Amino acid sequence: MSATTVAAPRNSDLDTAIAEAHERYAAARPKSAALHQKAKAVMPGGNTRSNLYYSPFPTAMAGGQGCQVTDIDGNTYLDLCGEYTAGLFGHSETRILEKVQAAIGRGIGLASVGENEPKFAELVCARFPSIEKVRFTNSGTEANMMAITLARHHTKRDGILVFRGGYHGSVLTFTGGGPNAMTAPLDFVMADYNDIDGTVALMREHKDRIGTVILEPMQGSGGCIPASVPFLKAIRATCDELGMVLIYDEVMTSRHSSGGLQKLTGVHPDLTALGKYLAGGMNIGAFGGRAKIMDAFDATQPGALVHSGTFNNNVLSMAGGVVALGEIFDSAAAEAHFEKGEKLRNRLNEIAQKHKVTLQFTGLGSMIQAHFRTGEIMRRYTTTATEEGLLELFFFDLLQAGIYLARRGMVAMSLPVGEAECERFAQAVDAFCTTRGPLMRA
Ligand SMILES: Cc1ncc(COP(=O)(O)O)c(C=O)c1O
Repeated sequence: MSATTVAAPRNSDLDTAIAEAHERYAAARPKSAALHQKAKAVMPGGNTRSNLYYSPFPTAMAGGQGCQVTDIDGNTYLDLCGEYTAGLFGHSETRILEKVQAAIGRGIGLASVGENEPKFAELVCARFPSIEKVRFTNSGTEANMMAITLARHHTKRDGILVFRGGYHGSVLTFTGGGPNAMTAPLDFVMADYNDIDGTVALMREHKDRIGTVILEPMQGSGGCIPASVPFLKAIRATCDELGMVLIYDEVMTSRHSSGGLQKLTGVHPDLTALGKYLAGGMNIGAFGGRAKIMDAFDATQPGALVHSGTFNNNVLSMAGGVVALGEIFDSAAAEAHFEKGEKLRNRLNEIAQKHKVTLQFTGLGSMIQAHFRTGEIMRRYTTTATEEGLLELFFFDLLQAGIYLARRGMVAMSLPVGEAECERFAQAVDAFCTTRGPLMRA
C-alpha cells in the first residue's frame, strides 16, 4: 500500500525474515546493486520514477518477452506487475511492434496532425459510452489535470471533491489520506470513498465552492478497492442536482471492459481520463466526454481554451493506439481477460482462507491487490508496521519464486498471462502461506 504510518514495532521473527530475504535478494543481483550505486550519483535516489524504488535497491530489468521479464543479472520472472496496467499487451506484441516500427520509419516529429490521430480518437469514442469527443495527452497525470481544469472552467467553481486513497497522478496523489507536498495547489475537498452519506453531505455543504468531483471507479494505487454501484449512483445524482462535473479517472480501470468500468457499472461520468495501456504501451493519456463540455477546446470558435503539448499526438502513440484498440483489445478480449482475473482472485482468496491467515486479495478482473488483514475493505486504511512488513516479505518471496509483482503487492495481468501462469502464481501464494503462515495469524 502506498499509504503508510508506522505504528508499533513488529515481531522480531518478521524482521528476521525480511533481513534474510534482503540478503538473499542482494546476493543474486550484484549487477543491479552496482547499477543503483552508479545511478545514485546522478539521479536523486538513483531513479526518475519514485515508485520503482525499494530497499535495498531495485532490480533492473534488461528486457521482456510475452509475460516474462529478465533482469540484468540474468534472472527471469513471470511478469505480473504488467507495468502497473500499462503493459496490458505484454512485451513485444508483434502487431504493435510492426505498426510502431512502420510509423517510426515514416518519420517522427512531423509537427502536424496525422491520419492515425482521428482514427485513434474514433476508436476511443466508439468504446466509451460517455465519451463523445476526446483529446490526447502524454500521460494519465496530464489527462486528469486537463479534465479538472476543463471542469473548473465549465462550472466556474474552483473546488474539487477528491477521495482519500485516490491516485490521479504524481501531482494528484491522495493515497496518504490527503494532499501532500507534491500535490498541485488546487482547492481540494476530501471525502471518504464508498461513504454515500458523508460524500453527499460534503457536496451539499460546499455546493457553491465545488464544481468538480473526481474519482477512480475502483481505486487502483490505493489498494484495488472497487466503488459500490450505489455510491457511484449517489454521486452521479448529486452532481446532476448541484450542477457539478463528474470525472472518472479510468486510467487503470478502463481495461475492465471494452467501455471501461463505466460500462460495467452502468453509471456514467461527464468526463473520463484514460491512459496506461491505451496506446499499446507507448506513452499516452486522454481525456474526453460530453461534446458540450469538450467543445471548449474548439479552436474554430472565439475564446477557445488552448490545450498544447509537443508530444500529444506523437506518431508512435497514435500508431500504437490504433492497433491496440482497433485490432487487439476488442470486447471479447476484454471480457475474457476480466474473467481470467476474477477466477484468479477467487482462487487466491480460497487459498488464504484454507490457510486461515490474515491475507486477502481485493480488486476486479485483471487488477488484484494483496492486503494482510481480514474483514471487508471499503476504503483506504492506515497499514500497521506488521502489514507493511508482510507486504515486503510477500514481494521478496515471490521474486525468489520467479514472480515479479508491483512492490506494493499489486498484480496487473497482461493478456499473455494464461491458465498456466495463473496456476504458477496461485501455487507460489500457497507456498507463501505455508512458509510464512506463523507470521500472519491473528
Ligand atoms: C488511476 C490513475 N490515474 C492517473 C495515473 C497517472 O498516470 P501517468 O503515470 O501516466 O501520469 C495513474 C498512474 O498510475 C493512475 O493509476
